[in-house]
Amino acid sequence: MSTSDGLCPCSIRSLRWRGVIEEYRDFLPVSSTTPVVSLLEGGTPLIEAPRLSARIGARVMLKIEGANPTGSFKDRGMTMAISKAVEEGARAVVCASTGNTSASAAAFAGRAGLTSAVLIPEGYIALGKLAQALIHGSRVLQLRGNFDQALTIVRELGEKAPVTVVNSVNPYRIEGQKSGAFEIVDQLGEAPDLHCIPVGNAGNITAYWKGYQEFKEAGRSTRLPRMHGFQAAGAAPIVAGHPIEHPDTVATAIRIGNPASWEGATSAASESGGGIAAVTDEQILEAYRFLAQEESIFCEPASAASVAGLMTYGLPDGLGPGSTVVCVLTGHGLKDPDIAISQIQVPTVVDADLSAVLEELGLS
Ligand code: F0G
Repeated sequence: MSTSDGLCPCSIRSLRWRGVIEEYRDFLPVSSTTPVVSLLEGGTPLIEAPRLSARIGARVMLKIEGANPTGSFKDRGMTMAISKAVEEGARAVVCASTGNTSASAAAFAGRAGLTSAVLIPEGYIALGKLAQALIHGSRVLQLRGNFDQALTIVRELGEKAPVTVVNSVNPYRIEGQKSGAFEIVDQLGEAPDLHCIPVGNAGNITAYWKGYQEFKEAGRSTRLPRMHGFQAAGAAPIVAGHPIEHPDTVATAIRIGNPASWEGATSAASESGGGIAAVTDEQILEAYRFLAQEESIFCEPASAASVAGLMTYGLPDGLGPGSTVVCVLTGHGLKDPDIAISQIQVPTVVDADLSAVLEELGLS
């Protein structure tokens, strides 16, 4: 479809992108008086992955959530949570986080002039995310414990202190995050056949499923995708069927043993005819390197779990060359430079001399 000046309507639209709340206002619990706190999040690319498609035997597309203002999908939910917090007269917000939620909360709270505090597991948060929470002025508490313990404390804080919790137990977070599904349907003109997504605290899979359902009900798509969620093998409580007390994985963003939206994830999987499965750290890192080296997309390890799942388990029965698969790449690779550097050869040091450089490159 093209307009009289030959431009695709979506390319015009993206130039005027107004952020998640303004773009999808009709589907969100906001009114004309809600103060919109936005960093123009959302509107992220959905990009073809030709080499991955060839390997899988279907059209595979990647939703690049690292292109959000703070580098992860969390901004979609945070614009809603912070806007509603301001509307409801909050002064301070708090969250537990493996890193990305804290980065996003710090940025959006700062934008709104709210105080923020974040609880993160000491030693298990990627460097870039810690830098973000600090530079945006959040009060950062590093907990001697894991994410699940941090979330328990944050929930109690929300009950006992005058602070608004902006984890995905706050329903406005899920509302904002469902916009990812709206965009995919808008970008494809239809829902995909299969949706692959990493699962940690399980808010995002819950949100995407809600978004796909609402768009279908509104007549914006004619079908629903199968939802396939992937947990890291060392942190796979939903796959195991019970909480994991000491979750462990290289993908620190999804190092979670007792997801808050457990039921949302299992409903999404069962109602859509999909499933939740585990991928090992080796499989995650293989997908991470493949994306960077074969598709030139640099995502963080947790994000690569979606592609690792697709590469490990392949297409489900009934899908084939004519099918469309979307993998959500939830966060930017630059958030976790330590993992990237550990995955490749160490840079070679040479003298500041042309012949030394030529020799090292094998060009002399
Ligand atoms: N990918 C990334 C990059 C994440 O940061 C997270 C969650 C997930 C996937 C999983 O999403 O929790 O909705 O199932 N990060 C949270 C945080 C826990 O604190 O930043 P989920």
